[in-house]
Amino acid sequence: MKRIIANWKMYKTIEESLHYIQALTSLLQENEDPIYLAVPFTAIQPLAFATKKSYIVIGAQNMNDAEEGAFTGEIAARMLTEVGARFVILGHSERRRYFQETDAFINRKIQRALTDGLQPIFCIGESQIEREEGRTEKVLRRQIKEGLAEIAAEQAEDLILAYEPIWAVGSSHPATPEIIEEAHQICRKTLQDLFGNEAAKIEILYGGSVTPQNTPELISQPSIDGLLVGGASLSPETFAKIVLLAQNRKINISSGSS
Ligand code: PGA
Repeated sequence: MKRIIANWKMYKTIEESLHYIQALTSLLQENEDPIYLAVPFTAIQPLAFATKKSYIVIGAQNMNDAEEGAFTGEIAARMLTEVGARFVILGHSERRRYFQETDAFINRKIQRALTDGLQPIFCIGESQIEREEGRTEKVLRRQIKEGLAEIAAEQAEDLILAYEPIWAVGSSHPATPEIIEEAHQICRKTLQDLFGNEAAKIEILYGGSVTPQNTPELISQPSIDGLLVGGASLSPETFAKIVLLAQNRKINISSGSS
């Protein structure tokens, strides 16, 4: 099974989210694999309730590292699990870039998520300049080592790593299979350095301009354990196509798809 995760970012009200779920579940009839949706905070509870006992797994896109405290505007892991979130995206490049999140802060968040029962989807990736200057390997190794510092191998098994080159996110220019293969090997090796044999259990996903058009090629790469989908996850038809393609199932979707 290849894991598919949608990242809605700052899109969809509760009402829009509920319509989406209705459309998605009718398009994905007979699906059994878990499908992860990282949704806005406000939609977590209604969606977790609406999809209870189904294959849909609802999660968040961020959280604070503290258990609780005087941090105006922040949200704690326990508050997310209480409303039904089961995973959380951490270290996304948009958080690193627009909200100055550092590797050390992301590390504390990952530790908190693991302690408080949320599965971390840990995002890493190099910028265009870092790639051009030949620093990709160094950057990926640093992000993984610092992001996963002081985490035990038994805990690390629960997390999922997502390689998302910054230049490919939201750009309509996905990385080529060759680039992804090379980056995933660096990630796999770094995880092995940290966690030994246990590292084999950690899934490594790819994210960055995934569409139904490029899904078959991406998903056929053995080193890609799944996909993290942003823009193309916002339409239930387009996202359902990606899921069905990733599962090698027949596609019979027309309206609103691309
Ligand atoms: P994209 O976003 O699919 O729109 O490139 C991916 C992500 O940000 O996780």
